[in-house]
Amino acid sequence: MQQDALIDTIGKHQDGKVTLKGWVYNKRSSGKIRFVLLRDGTGIIQCVFLKNDVPEHVFDLADSVTQESSVEVTGLVRADARAPGGFELTADGLKLIQLAEPYPITPKEHGVDFLMKNRHLWFRSARQVAVLRIRNEIIKALRGFLDDNGFLCCDTPILTPAACEGTTTLFELDYFGATVYLAQSGQLYNEPLCAAVRKTYCFGPTFRAEKSKTRRHLMEFWMLEPEVAFLDLAGSMELAEELVAHTVARVLDKRKQDLETLGRDLSGLEAVRTPFPRLSYADAIDLLRSKGRNIEFGDDFGAEEETVLGQSHDRPVIVHRYPAAVKAFYMKRDESDPSLALAMDMISSEGYGEIIGGGQREEDRQKLEASIKQHRLPQEAFEWYLDLRRYGSFPHSGFGLGLERFVAWITGVRHIRETIPFPRMLEKVYP
Ligand code: 4AD
Ligand code: MG
Repeated sequence: MQQDALIDTIGKHQDGKVTLKGWVYNKRSSGKIRFVLLRDGTGIIQCVFLKNDVPEHVFDLADSVTQESSVEVTGLVRADARAPGGFELTADGLKLIQLAEPYPITPKEHGVDFLMKNRHLWFRSARQVAVLRIRNEIIKALRGFLDDNGFLCCDTPILTPAACEGTTTLFELDYFGATVYLAQSGQLYNEPLCAAVRKTYCFGPTFRAEKSKTRRHLMEFWMLEPEVAFLDLAGSMELAEELVAHTVARVLDKRKQDLETLGRDLSGLEAVRTPFPRLSYADAIDLLRSKGRNIEFGDDFGAEEETVLGQSHDRPVIVHRYPAAVKAFYMKRDESDPSLALAMDMISSEGYGEIIGGGQREEDRQKLEASIKQHRLPQEAFEWYLDLRRYGSFPHSGFGLGLERFVAWITGVRHIRETIPFPRMLEKVYP
């Protein structure tokens, strides 16, 4: 494939002539000079047009070209220590591909509603690109860690006949006259897969019809879900902390510049080293009360409790052994207190809430059947899942990491809507 010169590797062409294709990011003029900031999707470079050195039509075009017009610029690559990427282009040619109409997003401040309506354009901005790059780095690091540790990525379906995480947040679809649901999680399918390949994971979009309009909720989000045969709760907590610490270190190593573009305080990420503190649910309740939260044993944590728990430590904290009543049907009970589930959640530091949820699965068929009944789920739909407890049942554990919450935390972006190119939020599906 023949490659155009690109801004992020422009140094290869120092003192040489290149043609760059991209879009006009911004423009300014000073006497007989026009400065065009060119954006090509890999970076931004300043192109300098001198009236006395370029043909008149080129100078006029540099003067009149509008923001986000697509153009081709030719020029000499010069090292310039003051320039953001270390290079500048002394331009001698400018060709218009398309003259952009007045661009709706200008360097002035815009309201969030306006930006969200223009999401398809908004992510051309430097901050949004930084988030997308970090998101991609996180995905590579997460997958890389699991791939290098003996996991096999097997995929799980999106159209499913039954609920995984409870019936209240299902998106329902007509499937040739039958009802199916968009997957809330791949977990139930990961469980039989780990009996085949021992360590498996899935990574894909998951769906929750959450009637929550918060900065932490999406209707469609991506989840990375490892599941391991013969792993207990303690083992899954270790796996989770190692995965998270590895990924944070990797982003710090590879994407520092993007973190800086976002103004991310790096000390909050540099502190993320194993081991992470562990708190039993009971200890977490005590901690919350000592911080003035009005919460009873048995209550689930809401966004505010998560924020308080997360801000009480310099790195993520793992809370384990929740009351079974607030957790899903498949959770194994704690033998020393069967009212507790062998569940664990990882709560991010710095107030971004729960980034991981998981635990050990019930492997006893009768207990699982009783739990299915108690949760008023249709047992017929789970017969295949119960088979796993009929044919060589085994202890196993796993968890789900919510990608967008994780990206929000690492980038320091306050609201989850900026962590995915096209967020799906309550009552908002445009564009
Ligand atoms: O805690 P959850 O519901 O766990 C499960 O779905 C398990 N079946 C996963 C497993 O054990 N394999 O969801 C896991 C994570 C949460 O910790 C959170 O980070 C994220 O998914 N999450 C959401 N992210 C964005 N928007 C939402 N509406 C989310 N709901 C959950
Ligand atoms: Mg959860």
